[in-house]
Amino acid sequence: MRNTSCVGKTAHVIGKEPGFVEVINVGKRFGMGTRVLEALTDLDLIIPAGDFVTIIGQSGCGKTTLLRLIAGLDHPSEGQIKVGGKLVQGTGWDRGMIFQEPRLFPWATVAHNVDLGLPDRGQDQQADQDRVMALLRLVGLEDFAIAYPGELSGGMAQRVALARALAGSPKVLLLDEPLGALDAVTRMRMQNELLRIWQTRALTMVAVTHDLDEAILLSTQIVVLSERPGTVRRVIPVDLPYPRDRTTLEFNVFRQELVGMLA
Ligand SMILES: Nc1ncnc2c1ncn2[C@@H]1O[C@H](COP(=O)(O)OP(=O)(O)OP(=O)(O)O)[C@@H](O)[C@H]1O
Ligand SMILES: [Mg+2]
Repeated sequence: MRNTSCVGKTAHVIGKEPGFVEVINVGKRFGMGTRVLEALTDLDLIIPAGDFVTIIGQSGCGKTTLLRLIAGLDHPSEGQIKVGGKLVQGTGWDRGMIFQEPRLFPWATVAHNVDLGLPDRGQDQQADQDRVMALLRLVGLEDFAIAYPGELSGGMAQRVALARALAGSPKVLLLDEPLGALDAVTRMRMQNELLRIWQTRALTMVAVTHDLDEAILLSTQIVVLSERPGTVRRVIPVDLPYPRDRTTLEFNVFRQELVGMLA
């Protein structure tokens, strides 16, 4: 794994990689007039290409808001966000997002749901079909191409959402607690799946999680946000080799540090 880093306002980028996702002095307010809610303030974050960053922080501190801003689903009230050096002004194929719930189209088959994620679909039907099947193989669902979302388990549905997000060949994958609703065993399998896809596809991952072990298992850097209005409180580089073992002493040192910060 290369030596990369994401940093808060007062820190600087370690290593040779320039920032791929740059969140520069971002603030976000919701509402109007006297009913204004400040969700994010003065938030700086530099994420180099290829990092797996997890974002943790209390409920309501602005984690989803931050992902939505990077995705271009919403706009900052202050500051700016760049991806690959380009100002984010809306959604784009360079970014894929996976939400807490799979958000599949219930009327479409698994294959059709993934097909809808292809940026240039419809030009060559055989090529589209091949790409969809390759994505379904990647997430282990090639046998469920003609199933409907209602026939899938929660973990399978999230894997379809993952395949659909990857269909656009994004450079950055934004994950908002995608494994939150899964049972412990499925969750562990999905964590391994995410790591495999990250490592084989050279993606930059930005994931929100409430699970401290998950953050340590997956990420190169853990960003701890403050209470609302959210800003970067701490960035913790996790320099353990992959695959990580949550029973080791080193793993527990990170766990203790995070518990100490959030308790
Ligand atoms: N569209 C919106 N309109 C008004 N307020 C909003 C909107 N979206 C988010 N907020 C407010 O912004 C704050 C941050 O919300 P956000 O969903 O980003 O928190 P979060 O850190 O993701 O929380 P959780 O861990 O519970 O998912 C909250 O106080 C929320 O009420
Ligand atoms: Mg949220």
